Amino acid sequence: MPLDRRHFLIQSGSAAAVVALFGQGCASPSTPTAMGSGEVLGFTGVPASLRDGIVVPPEYEWQLLYPWGTPTGVANRMPSFAPDASNSADDQAAQAGMHHDGMHFFALDASGERGLLVMNHEYTDEQLLHTDGVKEWTAGKVRKSLHAMGVSVIEIRRTDKGWQQVLPSPFARRVHGSTPMRIAGPAAGTPLMRTTANPAGDAVFGTFANCAMGVTPWGTYLTCEENFHGYFGGPKDAARNATAAQRRYGTVAGSQWVEYWRFDERFDVSRHPNEPHRFGWVVEIDPFDPTATPVKRTALGRKRQESATCTVAKDGRLVVYMGDDSRFEYIYKFISRDKVRPGTDAAARAANRHLLDEGTLYAARYDAGGRGQWLELTHGCNGLDAANGFADQAEVLIHARLAGDHVGATKMDRPEWIAIHPQSGEVYVTLTNNSQRGDAGKPPPDAANPRANNLFGGILRWREDAGDAAATGFAWDHFALAGDPAQPGSGARYPSASADAFGAPDGLHFDRGGLLWIQTDMSGQVIGKPPYTALGNNQMLCADPASGRIKRFLTGPNGCEITGCVVTPDRRTLFVNIQHPGEARDDGDTKPNSAWPDGTTPGSARPRSATLAIRRRDGGIVGT
Ligand code: FEO
Ligand code: CA
Ligand code: CA
Ligand code: CA
Repeated sequence: MPLDRRHFLIQSGSAAAVVALFGQGCASPSTPTAMGSGEVLGFTGVPASLRDGIVVPPEYEWQLLYPWGTPTGVANRMPSFAPDASNSADDQAAQAGMHHDGMHFFALDASGERGLLVMNHEYTDEQLLHTDGVKEWTAGKVRKSLHAMGVSVIEIRRTDKGWQQVLPSPFARRVHGSTPMRIAGPAAGTPLMRTTANPAGDAVFGTFANCAMGVTPWGTYLTCEENFHGYFGGPKDAARNATAAQRRYGTVAGSQWVEYWRFDERFDVSRHPNEPHRFGWVVEIDPFDPTATPVKRTALGRKRQESATCTVAKDGRLVVYMGDDSRFEYIYKFISRDKVRPGTDAAARAANRHLLDEGTLYAARYDAGGRGQWLELTHGCNGLDAANGFADQAEVLIHARLAGDHVGATKMDRPEWIAIHPQSGEVYVTLTNNSQRGDAGKPPPDAANPRANNLFGGILRWREDAGDAAATGFAWDHFALAGDPAQPGSGARYPSASADAFGAPDGLHFDRGGLLWIQTDMSGQVIGKPPYTALGNNQMLCADPASGRIKRFLTGPNGCEITGCVVTPDRRTLFVNIQHPGEARDDGDTKPNSAWPDGTTPGSARPRSATLAIRRRDGGIVGT
């Protein structure tokens, strides 16, 4: 039985036992095909558009769910959204966070019409979050900001009025920047993880900067801490003491995005240099048990963490693919020491509880000629030893970027999401862009990152040797080099003539039928301007890897990014997040350029990130 068709029974806190059926769990190369009905990509493609709204094919409809500020019922609190942003920090901890990102649907019954929607809240727009913005920071604003990031767990159900949030729900939960969590794996408790507040180095408050995600075969959610560095800082004059590792990770005093450090001293790197070591991890959350403590899994390495996409090797070990989204950073793979105990029942969950704590981390090298190698990041191997600055495995993991340098991994054009084809096991990664490729003092183009000044990004893929995710060698090629083919010199190269153009691919999701959903994140500063004009606003496309066709499916409101994507197990609903509508603001004008979804003209309402539930009007399989 494929992973996503296994029933399981669990006890969830005080909630009654529930029978759950998973949706898009870990893809496995052995997962049987289930193409469903209808012509692949049979929908009416939509044009690129600068329209300030949601556009989907005419045979589809969308519905709004869970915008920022929606009450969750957490702690029996239902604070309604205050349109003037006057909600308190405590209110925000019981409401939807800002900037919805990676997301998964965990079905709660065999109908597939009841489930948990679990999503990340990536970052904050402080101007929108507080009534008077942040001309003056306060301790209360820091708390509210921390509470606006993290993860939401909500229960949803499909009714004759469409998908609705179930309130109250025993599953409802907000995990945020102040939630107590555990640190586990080889780096836990080691000197670089110890702080004044936690001398044991094994516990931390909070997760934030939660971007892409993953799902384990035993039914837990993996949230990934991406741009955590921007929340740490300190007095500018402390920057001269920054170490090479701090500079590489961007946790340098004076470079902060927000002024947390002035009100919460743990964010001051000049006073607490180890606190940033406790961020930049993959965090495991059990969405079915609201009392379960989230756990940071250090065996997977520290980076500006993108996806943690799981699959199972031929011998039953877990394999997790990860990207590190900065210019010239690496792609990683983790292979567990132990085998996955199959199933999602209580016994399997207990048996797999420590699976992410022991294993081997690798970084990828993409060689010319289409071959590649996984390079082991283990202390004592490949020169990763004290003589080269790595005292032990904890240091290799905490400074995984430096370890990747040492072994000669390939510096990529900003690796974002990773998705695995459910039948072939081929692995696809979005490389979103890299405007500095080829600049003076920066790495030149290479085989895998072939374009200097790579404005539009692309999608690269590989096939592990012998079709085994645990292999150390692989074959790779480019699925697409994105851009506007009409732009001279854009170098755009799509897999077929019938591919719609896009730029800055980011979110990536394979549904069970093998359709690849691609989401874009062009910066708000460039949308609608040359050479990006013809690409319109950010968009979502659907690709059929078998034919190379790529068809535009959705375009979003002004200034937004489209990110977070999951197709339900019955393939009849597609959940998508609209992140930061209105984010683009012209110089000197702080007014957001969209009021979506509450207003139709910019300035008429605070724009809010939100989830869309998208279905075919005839209830058919999405993407066909
Ligand atoms: Fe949060 Fe790299 O996108
Ligand atoms: Ca992203
Ligand atoms: Ca991005
Ligand atoms: Ca964005």
